[in-house]
Amino acid sequence: MRKMCLLGIAISLASSCAWAQTPSVALEHKAAFITDLMNRMTLDEKVGQLRLISIASDMPRELIRTEIAAGRIGGTFNSVTRPENRPMQDAAMRSRLKIPMFFAYDVIHGHRTIFPISLALASSWDMEAIALSGRVSAKEASADSLDLTFAPMVDIARDPRWGRTSEGFGEDTYLVSRIAKVMVQAYQGVSPALPGNIMASVKHFALYGAVEGGRDYNIVDMSPTRMFQDYLPPYHAAIDAGAGSVMVALNSINGVPATSNTWLMQDLLRKQWGFKGVAVSDHGAILELIKHGVAKDEREAATLAIKAGVDMSMNDLVYGKELPGLIRSGKVPQSDLDNAVREVLGAKYDMGLFKDPYLRIGNAEDDPADINAESRLHRAEAREVARKSQVLLKNESRTLPLNKRANIALIGPLADSKIDMLGSWSGAGVPAQSVTVLEGLRAAVGKPGTLTYARGANVTDDQAVVDYLNYSNPNMLDLTNDPRPAQAMLDEAVKVAQQADVIVAVVGEARGMSHEAASRTDLDLPATQRALISALKATGKPLVLVLMNGRPLSIGDQVQQADAVLETWYSGTEGGNAIADVLFGDYNPSGKLPITFPRSVGQIPSYYSHLRIGRPFTPGKPGNYTSQYFDAPNTPLYPFGYGLSYTDFSVSAPQLSANTLKPGSALTASVTVKNTGQRAGETVVQLYIQDVSASMSRPVKELKNFQKLMLQPGEEKVVQFSIDEDALKFYNTQLQYAAEPGEFNVQIGLDSQNVQQTSFQLL
Ligand code: BGC
Repeated sequence: MRKMCLLGIAISLASSCAWAQTPSVALEHKAAFITDLMNRMTLDEKVGQLRLISIASDMPRELIRTEIAAGRIGGTFNSVTRPENRPMQDAAMRSRLKIPMFFAYDVIHGHRTIFPISLALASSWDMEAIALSGRVSAKEASADSLDLTFAPMVDIARDPRWGRTSEGFGEDTYLVSRIAKVMVQAYQGVSPALPGNIMASVKHFALYGAVEGGRDYNIVDMSPTRMFQDYLPPYHAAIDAGAGSVMVALNSINGVPATSNTWLMQDLLRKQWGFKGVAVSDHGAILELIKHGVAKDEREAATLAIKAGVDMSMNDLVYGKELPGLIRSGKVPQSDLDNAVREVLGAKYDMGLFKDPYLRIGNAEDDPADINAESRLHRAEAREVARKSQVLLKNESRTLPLNKRANIALIGPLADSKIDMLGSWSGAGVPAQSVTVLEGLRAAVGKPGTLTYARGANVTDDQAVVDYLNYSNPNMLDLTNDPRPAQAMLDEAVKVAQQADVIVAVVGEARGMSHEAASRTDLDLPATQRALISALKATGKPLVLVLMNGRPLSIGDQVQQADAVLETWYSGTEGGNAIADVLFGDYNPSGKLPITFPRSVGQIPSYYSHLRIGRPFTPGKPGNYTSQYFDAPNTPLYPFGYGLSYTDFSVSAPQLSANTLKPGSALTASVTVKNTGQRAGETVVQLYIQDVSASMSRPVKELKNFQKLMLQPGEEKVVQFSIDEDALKFYNTQLQYAAEPGEFNVQIGLDSQNVQQTSFQLL
C-alpha cells in the first residue's frame, strides 16, 4: 500500500507520517512545519540528517537500513532503482520521526539514455537541445526513484589537461552561465517537488576547473577579479535559476579549502547570493581537511566544515562521530547544527518528500520488470541532441558528406567501442545499448558490403595507462586491448584502406582518459593511433578523422594529414547513428567549439578572452620583445566558437542603431547572415564586446550573446542583438560591478576570431 501524507491531514493512510500527527502545523507552511519537526528532534536525530551515505561504500546495506531506521542517515546516493531505494524509505518510515530519506546520483549527461557529454552538449550552442537532455534525464531519474542529481557541473575549464574538462561546458563564462540556468530549469521543472522533476545540486563550488597545472584535486590560486568576473558567474546563474543544492568543491581557494571556507559558503553563497538550499560536501571532503593541513584531527575538521556552512557530509563519518560531542561541549553552537538541519529538511520539503516519501519510488507493483528495457530509453531525443553536438573542424575539397554507395574503410580503436561511446559519468547507462560508429554506419548504408572494418590499433599500448584506467573502474573494464601485435593490426587496416574509396578513422581517447582523476601532461593522440593515421595517410586515400575525446587535443599533425575532421566527443547511447547522420549529410553539422584547441600543451592556458597586455604579438610582424613563443604560433589550433557546416554563410559588417549608449537604455547591433551554399544549414552568430579603455585591463573580447539560426540555400536573415549597460559591466579592482563610460568595440562573426568590428561610446 502506498503511503502518503496529505497536507498534514491525519487520514488513515497518513498515520505513518509523524508530521501528520500534529495537524496544527500544516504541511503547506514550510518554515513552521520544519521548526515544529526540529523541536521534536533529538541531537542524534539532527546529526543523522547531515549524513549522506554512498550505497557503494563499505557499509553493508543491512546496516544502512538499520542506521536509517535509527534516524542516523539523511540521504544516500549511488543506488538507482526503486527496489533498492524502497526498503530504505521503508526504514525511514519506521524511524521515530519518520523523516523521509532522499536518494541522489550523478545524473550528468543522461540517466538510462545517455546523451553526449556535457562538453559536447555545450558544442551544440542549442539551449533547447540542452534543455531536452536535462528534461529526459530528470524524467528517467525520477522514474528510477532518484530525487536529486549532483549536476550541473559548471566549473569553467581553461586547462584541458584536467580530465574533468569533459564533464563541464567549456571555457566561457557567458556560455556556461546560460547553460547552467537551462540545466537547472530542465532538471527541476516548475518545481522539484513534482514527480518527473529532480533537484539540481550545482557543483563544484567553487573554481574546481582552475586546479593548478590541470592536475585533479590540486590547489586553486586566483585573483578576486578573475574569480568574480570569469569563474563564479556560472554557479551564481544556477543559484539564481533556483538550484536547490550546491556541492562544495574539493580544492582550496587561495589557501583555504572550499569545505572550510566561511567566506565562500556564508558570505558569498548565502549572504551575498541569497542561497537558501542545502550545501553538500564532496566525497569524503570533510575528512580531507586534515590532509589539506587546516584541521589537526577529525573533531576540528567537523567544526570547520559545519561552521563554514557545509550542511551534509558526503560519505565520511566525521559529522556522525564528532558533532554530538561538539554540540554538547558547546564547541559548536547549537545554531550551526540547526541551520544545517533546517537546510536538509528544507531540501526534502522542496523535493516533495514530506508530502509523499514515495513520490518517486512509487508502488512495487508498478516497478519496471526490466530497468534496462528498450522501451524506457529516449533514443530519438538522444540522436537529435547528439547530432547537434558534433563539430566539423575541417572539410577539404568537400570530402564530407560521404556517399552511402562509396566503399568505406572504417578503421580505428574507437570505431566499434560501445563503452567509450557513453563517455564518463554514465553509470546507469548500459554499454550494450549504445550504438557504435560501425553499427551506425552499417545501419545507414544498408548494404554491409560497402563498409569494411579493421581496428588498426589499440587506443594505447602503454600498459601503465591501460592498468590505470582499468584500475579506476574495476567493475567494468574500460580498456580491453586487442592482443595481436601492433604491426599485424596496422597491416590489416592498411589493406582494408587500400581497397576503399575513402577511409573513416575513429580515433581519440578511451573515455576513462577524460574523467575524474584522469589528468594528462600531454594532449597528443597516443602513439599507436598517430602511427595508424600516418599509415592510413600513406595509402593516398581520402582520410576522414572522427574524433572521440573529452577534452581539446593537440592534433595539428593529424589534422594536416586528414582531409576532413569531425569532433564527436562522446556522443552517448545513439552516438553511432548520430555520427552516421552527419557523415552522410542526413544532418548538416552545426556545432561550435565551446573551448579552445591549443596547438600544444605549451600554449596552455589558451582561452580566447584573455586580458590585454602591454606588448601584444602582432600577426605578420614578428618583432622581438612582443608576447609570443618563438617556437610556435600564438594562435590556437582551433579557436573558441569555431565549427564548419556543409554549406557556407556570409555575415555582413555589423550595423549599430546608435553610436552612443546612455546608461539605462539599449542599442541594437545587427548583421545580415546569408546561406551562400547549396544546402540548408544552421550556424551560430556570435556577439563579442571589447572594452577599449577602462580602470583595469579588460579582455581582448568577451562573448555577450549568440543566436543559432537555420537558413535555406540562398536565404538571408537579419540577426539583432540588444546591447545594454549590463552587458558592459565588470568587476573592477574594488570588486564593484559597474560599466565604465568610454569606447566599446562590437565584434560579430561565426567564431571568436573571424569577426567584423564596429564601435560605440557608453556615455
Ligand atoms: C566527485 C563529485 C561526485 C561525487 C559523488 C566525487 O568524487 O568529485 O563530482 O558528485 O564523487 O559521486
